[in-house]
Amino acid sequence: MDKTIRVFAPATVANVACGFDIMGFAIDNPGDEVVMQLCDKPGVVIKRIIGDEGKLPLDPDKNTVSIVVKQLLEQVQSDYGVEITLYKNMPLGSGLGSSAASAVAGLHAANELLLRHEPEKAIHKREKLLPFAMEGERLACGSAHADNVAPALMGGFVLVRSYDPLDVIRIPTPEGLFATVIHPHVEVQTRDARSILRKQISLEDATIQWGNTAGLIAGLWQGDFELIGRSMQDVIIEPIRSLLIPGFDSVKISAMNAGALGCGISGSGPSIFALSKNQPTAEEVGRKMQNTFGALNIDSDLYVSGINQQGPRIINEQ
Ligand code: HSE
Repeated sequence: MDKTIRVFAPATVANVACGFDIMGFAIDNPGDEVVMQLCDKPGVVIKRIIGDEGKLPLDPDKNTVSIVVKQLLEQVQSDYGVEITLYKNMPLGSGLGSSAASAVAGLHAANELLLRHEPEKAIHKREKLLPFAMEGERLACGSAHADNVAPALMGGFVLVRSYDPLDVIRIPTPEGLFATVIHPHVEVQTRDARSILRKQISLEDATIQWGNTAGLIAGLWQGDFELIGRSMQDVIIEPIRSLLIPGFDSVKISAMNAGALGCGISGSGPSIFALSKNQPTAEEVGRKMQNTFGALNIDSDLYVSGINQQGPRIINEQ
């Protein structure tokens, strides 16, 4: 049976404005790809990384794509090892869940190879791979948050109700909901964007925030676009992190003026996302956001996507 596999895992928008560390959704593009080959010799080797401009380590203990696979193969006591080629299609420090996409692509590939060659050792429920993927985030930024890896792995919109014990819930999204994600060419490291946050918040802010979090989930479930929009307010994180993103306020105003339901920072930034109730609006929102960055002489990449329900996928057999 085939010993090589190629897997794509999607970018994700974490936090979704009001849900710091507890909400995220997957988009269709961009994403990372992994080509993985099963070997008789145990252990994990990164053969090559393409597209990272030499920025990522080849040491398997220092790269999210490999450390998670290593821990999986060790835990299930696989007799095999793997060799990995990583196609790093996503910019680093972008707020698009770049480290999560690599980790999930690696885990999905390794688990598919296990299913084929050591089925008794494979993991049969995707959620069970989540704790491994979270360890990749710990390596990448010092915190094992799940709001990128959970939607990258499970697809769709995911709520992390609890970390201890881990409890993740897939939330239905209404037909027509589209995301616009714009990545300005500015780098923000998640580790830094976390370190500037206040560790304590007022009861008043907490009350506003959990009202919005609950409102967003209710809006998604009921397909109530206005409620989704009203709930996309972040009074805790955005006021601090937006200072790291040049032009944030003007870009957000352009998105709202173009008809977005709501707009906020994607993950830890600098990418900014908006939600809209149909694709044409999401595209118009994107044009307006990109023009605003352009007027500030900031280049950007634009992605418009429905909510990716699939998560990782095998893209061809080799
Ligand atoms: N919830 C994480 C954060 C996501 O905001 O730091 C990082 O992409």
